[in-house]
Amino acid sequence: MPKIFRNKTVSPGGNINGVLELPGDKSISHRYAILAALAEGRTEILNYSSAADCKSSLGCLRRLGIKADLTRERLRITGKGLDGLQAPRRTLDAENSGTTIRMLAGVLAGQPFASTLSGDASLRARPMRRVVEPLRKMGAEISTHEGDCAPLEIRGSKLHSIDYSLPIPSAQVKSAILLAGLYSDGVTTVCEPVRTRDHTELALREFGATIESLNKSVRIHPRPKLQARRLIVPGDLSSAVFFIAAALVLPDSSLMLHNVGLNPTRTRILDFLISIGATIHLASVELRGGELIGDVSVRHSALAGGEIGGAQSAEMIDELPMLAVLGPYTEKGIEIRGAQELRMKESDRIATLAEGLRRMGAVVEEFQDGLRVQGRSAGKLRGAKVDPAGDHRIAMALAIAALGAEGDTVIRNADCVAVSYPEFFTTLERLRGEEKGDQDLRK
Ligand code: S3P
Repeated sequence: MPKIFRNKTVSPGGNINGVLELPGDKSISHRYAILAALAEGRTEILNYSSAADCKSSLGCLRRLGIKADLTRERLRITGKGLDGLQAPRRTLDAENSGTTIRMLAGVLAGQPFASTLSGDASLRARPMRRVVEPLRKMGAEISTHEGDCAPLEIRGSKLHSIDYSLPIPSAQVKSAILLAGLYSDGVTTVCEPVRTRDHTELALREFGATIESLNKSVRIHPRPKLQARRLIVPGDLSSAVFFIAAALVLPDSSLMLHNVGLNPTRTRILDFLISIGATIHLASVELRGGELIGDVSVRHSALAGGEIGGAQSAEMIDELPMLAVLGPYTEKGIEIRGAQELRMKESDRIATLAEGLRRMGAVVEEFQDGLRVQGRSAGKLRGAKVDPAGDHRIAMALAIAALGAEGDTVIRNADCVAVSYPEFFTTLERLRGEEKGDQDLRK
């Protein structure tokens, strides 16, 4: 998390126009960095995410004895092979990053040394039983803090393979089991109730592991010899969606996004937006390093609104805050159900969204598993002072809500956007033709 907390004022109006090249995908960046550390030789990664979360992964890898050299242009990681990590002298600090702590728990479960993984107050309040339970079934010795939360104290053990069905859809937990599977004594199988993002599977294959995916089940073979690679991280679609939403909301907007990750386990959000009337086109789609990448264009559109639920919610879990704030800009509003996992994220996203949107005058009904935000007929949003509770995706979502409101919106501690997208506000200003930089971030 950034150390200085400043408010940000977002004024309404204008339009979104231009071309945008996004920073690298956060999920893919974590995976490439971790697998590069476990591979033999020097991996070069271009367009590594600028997110604070991905720096947290690098910080932990360095404490495990890995050389990671990050410049503006590229990240170079000197991998030491599956058995090359060193016992850390201090706690591994995943800061705000759920992906870092859960994926590394999988790797550390199979090491011949003890380690402790922890994070900031938000991460220490998030559920870890979901990852600890399957790793314990593989033979790992892990002790947790009260309520099955971090810090996680992991004593390296000999792991055996398991056949595990995830009770809740989670790409982080699936990934932790697959990574532990690298160190186990046989083929490990993970079945998921809904197909979640498959970047770990694709990246493992790129680095040379033997991994099979069939429907909702994945099998990983143990002890591959992972090889260093040269990889390019596609632009982050989950960051792009905030600008897609901005262009949809503001009249006379037209935006072109280049080199965006279009992995089908991530693009449900685009399908949904198109289904409610968004003018979105994909072009120049190609496969790079196993990942689909392409250009996305979007124009201001009249949106009908609609409902999402069940598997759909799991498939676009990170995009739900953006969808919720689109509610007041649609005809029928937006209803999200089957999304109880939103309460376990960097904040209780259902509660923080409901509170922020209500402050802006939206009519919101909150459910245990989602929320309903009424459409245009409930009236125009008005600028307000809102608190994203230190949650990066809520801060960005509320900034988008502010664009079509009456009057200015002040977003408290808006620097938290750095967790996934440090350039968010400067990019928003550039695309609105404002180019003010960060100078209006106020104390
Ligand atoms: C992520 C998986 C999702 C997502 C998170 C990133 C990943 O979490 O919400 O932002 O990189 O694997 P869960 O796996 O907990 O659903």
